[in-house]
Amino acid sequence: MNLCIFASGEGSNYQAIVNAIANKELAAKVVCVVSDKPHAYVLKRAHKDKIPTIACSPKHFTSKHEFEEAILEMLSQYSIDYIVCAGYMRIIGPTLLHAYPGRILNIHPSLLPKYKGKNALQQALEQKDTTLGASVHYIDETLDGGPIIEQRSFTIEADTPMEVIENRLHEIEHRLYIDVLKRLEEEKQ
Ligand code: GRF
Repeated sequence: MNLCIFASGEGSNYQAIVNAIANKELAAKVVCVVSDKPHAYVLKRAHKDKIPTIACSPKHFTSKHEFEEAILEMLSQYSIDYIVCAGYMRIIGPTLLHAYPGRILNIHPSLLPKYKGKNALQQALEQKDTTLGASVHYIDETLDGGPIIEQRSFTIEADTPMEVIENRLHEIEHRLYIDVLKRLEEEKQ
């Protein structure tokens, strides 16, 4: 199963997936990493792992369609089963969606459909939720919409420190993404 990871930032989800592949826990290959942010740390991680990267900033294009066409052109050299968005902070448009129908996944740090969009964790904490979690879903044309594949939750106390919450959420996300990819890999066989 060939994966192309889209990410804009830190890339801890990218790293968890790559580590699971290295440990032979996941039978997949990351064929390429795409970032809309040329200085994203995820690109440094990919260079270190000797995985090809594409850094493509939308600033150089006049429309989302042109931006995504350029990405598609660069992706055409790879055989890709799934595009895996992992902290990709941009809404995927129709151009990419139509090129990879039903084959683009995303991870979101909330129990969707609650708290779509940015600062999902902050939104949940403001609502004083004590059950938090993450969702992996297929992408459609709506923000953080699309069919949910799997969710995982954890509970906190009113006084749980922010750092503990963030670390727990990341752990949950990493495990969840790997488990979903394992399932997709099994279903493909
Ligand atoms: C994750 O919390 C993900 O759910 C959200 O952005 C964050 C990315 O983290 N969409 P990282 O770049 O994988 O460390």
